[in-house]
Amino acid sequence: MENRRLISLITPDGRLELFIEKTKVPECLENQVLVEVQAAPFNPIDLKGLLAGATLSTLARVTDGKRFGIQGSIPNNKLSALLSRIGKALVFGREGAGVVVAAGTSAAAKRLLGKTVAVKGDGTYQRYLLIDVNSCLKIDQDLSPRQGASAFINPLTALSMLMVMRSGGHSALINTAAASNLGQMLQRLCIAEEVPLINIVRNTQQARILSAIGARYVLNYEDGRFSRTLEKYILETGATVAFDAIGGGELAGQLLNSMHKVFSEDQGNPPTLNAGLRKHLYIYGGLNPSPTVIKRSFGLDWGIEGFLLDTHLRGIGGTEMERLRNVVAANLTTIFASSYEEEISMTGALNPEVLVRMSELRTGGKYLLNPSLD
Ligand SMILES: NC(=O)c1ccc[n+]([C@@H]2O[C@H](COP(=O)([O-])OP(=O)(O)OC[C@H]3O[C@@H](n4cnc5c(N)ncnc54)[C@H](OP(=O)(O)O)[C@@H]3O)[C@@H](O)[C@H]2O)c1
Repeated sequence: MENRRLISLITPDGRLELFIEKTKVPECLENQVLVEVQAAPFNPIDLKGLLAGATLSTLARVTDGKRFGIQGSIPNNKLSALLSRIGKALVFGREGAGVVVAAGTSAAAKRLLGKTVAVKGDGTYQRYLLIDVNSCLKIDQDLSPRQGASAFINPLTALSMLMVMRSGGHSALINTAAASNLGQMLQRLCIAEEVPLINIVRNTQQARILSAIGARYVLNYEDGRFSRTLEKYILETGATVAFDAIGGGELAGQLLNSMHKVFSEDQGNPPTLNAGLRKHLYIYGGLNPSPTVIKRSFGLDWGIEGFLLDTHLRGIGGTEMERLRNVVAANLTTIFASSYEEEISMTGALNPEVLVRMSELRTGGKYLLNPSLD
């Protein structure tokens, strides 16, 4: 059987090339299965890798007789961080779903033959993915691969955020870019677990999406009353931890300032109110690539760190991981449902206009790759 893979390659002269490569389908080892991928999301992190920081306005179609694809220029300041990628044909896509078409000799592998599975693993932007059975999640067989395509990254991140919140002694949280697929999942999860969540968005359409799924606290940071309303909601909910997907600009610092203003004793607040609890900010995305600006008008009982799902999951152990996977499988079409604007083939992805459009990372604008359409 022939495989087809969507390749991202950086040439020695600093150009990005995207093209489809034909290869042989590999044989399964004992505990592996071969999945025909039918749905794989273009998540923000995948797009970052796939497009390698190439300037979007330079993306153009090229045909050299044998090969059809896309080329684009990578600015020097971005290229310097990507030197190890030069000349390597990489396949991106960190999750997806499809049907198991071949299996290794282990009982666990054979049990998945013919089944629809969600997968977490590097390289879902290809028709046939060879993967260990432990990286597969058998989903309800009435569901389509599209419904299982985003069963790992965002669902496990939402669940992990609540674990981090609880382990830090916090009882309520703040999230930014909150109308994202992940933000909507987090809101539905918080409703189910009765955890107060303050959602921060940047326009009224996004606020409406969250209110429609039952969000009680939604704020638009473009609104003139933002700071006052944020402090009111922090006091009402007791939120002392914030997760920020935006990263750049002043919002992250403002969240720390507001939590400190409401809860810290050196602001004249009552000493019993969340006394001794460190206000914490986790930056978990870079939707705004400009520098993070912290104008510190708060004291010293605070912390800032990055949050990365894979690092968090490495620390939780196999039993807890199994529990989280089961929670996701049981709630895939409710709490952890995702939405996509468009489903495209690999050939369809080799289109500058499509690549620019999916890079806008708009609310509801996520693209889904279906490599079996090629
Ligand atoms: N650290 C981790 O381990 C981890 C794991 C999973 C996800 N994430 C991050 O979580 C975020 C959401 O992921 P997703 O898959 O749910 O994304 P998504 O569904 O594609 O949604 C993206 C959201 O970001 C908003 N946005 C885009 N650019 C923005 C900007 N400059 N300022 C403010 N908002 C902006 C969009 O709103 P508009 O419509 O206004 O553009 C949209 O609501 C991403 O940053 C992703 O990288 C991180």
